[in-house]
Amino acid sequence: MSMQESFNMFRKTWIDIDFDALEFNLKHFRRDNKELIFVVKANGYGHGDLKVSKFAYQHCDINWIAVSSLDEAYHIHKHVPELNILVLGYTDYQYIPIAIENNITLIIPSLEYAQNLPETSHGLHVHIKVDTGMNRLGCKTANELQEIINILLSKGVFIDGIFSHFACSDQKDGDMSKKQYNQFKEMVISSNYNFPMVHIANTDGSYIKDDFCNAKRVGLGAYGYSAFENLKPCLSLKTQVIAIKEIEKDESVSYGAVYHANKKEWIATIPIGYADGWLRRNEGRTVYVNNTPATLIGRICMDQCMIRLDEYVPIGTEVELIGPNMPITTIANETQTIPYEIITTLSDRIPRIYHYKNEIIGHCLTRFPSVD
Ligand SMILES: Cc1ncc(COP(=O)(O)O)c(C=O)c1O
Repeated sequence: MSMQESFNMFRKTWIDIDFDALEFNLKHFRRDNKELIFVVKANGYGHGDLKVSKFAYQHCDINWIAVSSLDEAYHIHKHVPELNILVLGYTDYQYIPIAIENNITLIIPSLEYAQNLPETSHGLHVHIKVDTGMNRLGCKTANELQEIINILLSKGVFIDGIFSHFACSDQKDGDMSKKQYNQFKEMVISSNYNFPMVHIANTDGSYIKDDFCNAKRVGLGAYGYSAFENLKPCLSLKTQVIAIKEIEKDESVSYGAVYHANKKEWIATIPIGYADGWLRRNEGRTVYVNNTPATLIGRICMDQCMIRLDEYVPIGTEVELIGPNMPITTIANETQTIPYEIITTLSDRIPRIYHYKNEIIGHCLTRFPSVD
């Protein structure tokens, strides 16, 4: 393994996270001086929510993060209490006191939610969600918005922001985004309320011209992916060969015996499988063994899979599954999915190793989590 190990990693399958890249990407999205809300839901898009949040706060001037649930918010708040946290998803009324106690900001997802807010909501901080076309969460009309504002003020709830979400932000200058943006702007203006934070853009939405909002919520771009710009991917997935054998023509490999060798072939086994988020749809795809392309053959098992090689390589040879040779965008195209799905399904079983300025500055091992 190329890096100096300062900890025990019992299985040599790991994710490298490049914090120089994260810093570069976050600074890139800061250039317009809008408040940058760094989206770290789903374990920081698989990168490790505590680590990326703490790094972003300490090195990249990030003061706001967004998560999907109060669980995620509470977890991060306990370790990085300096950060302001916005919960983008729905929160049950019974947990509102936890949000208040821990200074966590919730959303108002509908008029009905505002109407039924209990008395215990006094002192809660919220952003109101406006639905401009996703038809997921949010109020839809100016009248509903006005009613929500009145209810919240009467219940002693602090209205700190208002926001919406693009449905088709990856279509540059798309009509849908323009329609949503204009509708959002009109609704906010018509409410006559001075919202401290106003935001609609996600990563790709932040390339839409916007002279109205003062904040944006960026997830995927911070981790290095955008439909419009070359950013710096933070994540690489690597493993090592743990067994190698030469098989005869017509011998089969893996479950179902669906793969048969065409001739004498070298088959290497690597310790990663679908339980790691390395899903069965990767069968037949290319990985890089010592920077040389090789094919994943046979069914992907729960914890292991096999590669066909042109020649023998020793046990311990490094294999790149995601990285400079094999970008996530290529994998997404080849497996008919999106980068979001690939990175968020990489399981907690894989240790994350954090690199910054040519040093390992932290790690997160499954069974031995560490936040320092
Ligand atoms: C409401 C909301 N805002 C912002 C984001 C971040 O989007 P992106 O990762 O494209 O920047 C998401 C992502 O799913 C979201 O659901």
